[in-house]
Amino acid sequence: MPYILCVYYSRTGNTEKLMREIAAELKCEIVKLDDGVDRSGLGGWLRSGMQAMARRIPAVKPVKTAFPLDVYDLVIIGSPVWAGRCSAPVRSFLSQYGESLRKTAYVITRSSDVRYEEVFDQMDMYVRAPRVSAVTIRPNTVGATFWRDEFLTSIRDGGKEKADNAG
Ligand SMILES: Cc1cc2nc3c(=O)[nH]c(=O)nc-3n(C[C@H](O)[C@H](O)[C@H](O)COP(=O)(O)O)c2cc1C
Repeated sequence: MPYILCVYYSRTGNTEKLMREIAAELKCEIVKLDDGVDRSGLGGWLRSGMQAMARRIPAVKPVKTAFPLDVYDLVIIGSPVWAGRCSAPVRSFLSQYGESLRKTAYVITRSSDVRYEEVFDQMDMYVRAPRVSAVTIRPNTVGATFWRDEFLTSIRDGGKEKADNAG
């Protein structure tokens, strides 16, 4: 079995729920990113949106994992979409650690019909090699479970672009 790590940021729980489901299915380690920034309420929403638009890289606290990040065969990174971009804490994680990750796959959650697949390309800019798989999911919609399962299948198959799609 390959060593897989799930890393994510979640402000209101959507990405967290999905990443927990994915980690449970893959029976792998899961870690939540923390940048110590208060992102609650309207102020937090505005701050988060502005940081994402400005491509800010706030420091994230050191990520505590069982092994050094370059030991994992695959790191699955989960982020909410913020202002059409990946969330600031995930951008920070990628900027700090992206080069040391051997293989990556992405899970993004969003609230609109727009798929935001360009976010995958933005995330790829920080890593050594392009993603092996990615999925964009709108939580609590009919397609969400289907696309989550397609993503899991692609990961189990060794990460083909099959799940690079929308829910
Ligand atoms: C600051 C901010 C900006 C957002 N911008 C978008 C956006 O551009 N497009 C979109 O579909 N959803 C957007 N959303 C909604 C979130 O992507 C969506 O609700 C996501 O599932 C939240 O994940 P979370 O609960 O893990 O934080 C935004 C949310 C926040 C807080």
